[in-house]
Amino acid sequence: MKTNLTIAIDGPAAAGKSTVAKKVAQQLSFIYVDTGAMYRALTWKALQEGIDLEDEESLSVLLAHTKISLTQSESGEGQHVILNGVDVSEEVRSQEVTNQVSYVAKHPSVRTVMVERQRDLVKDQGVVMDGRDIGTHVLPHAEVKIFMIASVEERALRRHMENQEKGYHSDLKQLQDEIRRRDEIDSQRETAPLVKADDAIELDTTSLSIEEVVQKIIEIAEKKS
Ligand code: CDP
Ligand code: CDP
Repeated sequence: MKTNLTIAIDGPAAAGKSTVAKKVAQQLSFIYVDTGAMYRALTWKALQEGIDLEDEESLSVLLAHTKISLTQSESGEGQHVILNGVDVSEEVRSQEVTNQVSYVAKHPSVRTVMVERQRDLVKDQGVVMDGRDIGTHVLPHAEVKIFMIASVEERALRRHMENQEKGYHSDLKQLQDEIRRRDEIDSQRETAPLVKADDAIELDTTSLSIEEVVQKIIEIAEKKS
């Protein structure tokens, strides 16, 4: 396997992108970049500062003053989100951030800066990057492009089970509605919407285990390298 392969994984909310991307990166000793965490970090900061999420100019100014770094935990399983030196990994996963992040991510000037920062994270080393526009905009020359999907019922169920494991209560129907709404905003925005790249391989994970999806992506990567 080439050691500097680029793997782009895109798809709708809760399709399993980050869980799988993290494991693929670990198995191949590649770096993993969770681009959604960067949009979440900015959203969290904007909410903290009381910034109107429709105010693109203020969000751009805020982003210019906000350093966001992603660091791997020692086990390699987790990724920490560090904002201006403070670990906000938990905060960026809050329900409030989840519900608002797509409004922040639709602003073109925010995306331009995020895309630059994401590209800067790719050195001469293998990388697995997940998000919504990786194969189409951030890394259009990625050797491996995966568009990961799963039925909305399955995606909501996965989130529901994840919440239960963490000890939170969630309503399955409400989760489905939230996922549908976020996918709609992400797919319909004008700048870099969520769309499958022409050269991406669609992977329906509805009835696949995490391990099966990981193995499929590694097989695809092996064939490409
Ligand atoms: O993990 P989950 O599917 O809940 O979302 P995420 O990957 O953390 O992304 C959160 C949000 O950030 C998405 O719903 C998009 O609005 C935005 N995003 C984006 O616009 N472009 C990316 N490359 C990654 C995320
Ligand atoms: O990053 P994204 O929002 O696409 O999804 P995720 O946060 O990686 O995955 C959502 C949930 O689905 C997690 O709890 C995963 O453990 C679970 N999952 C699963 O049950 N089966 C898969 N094939 C993939 C993910």
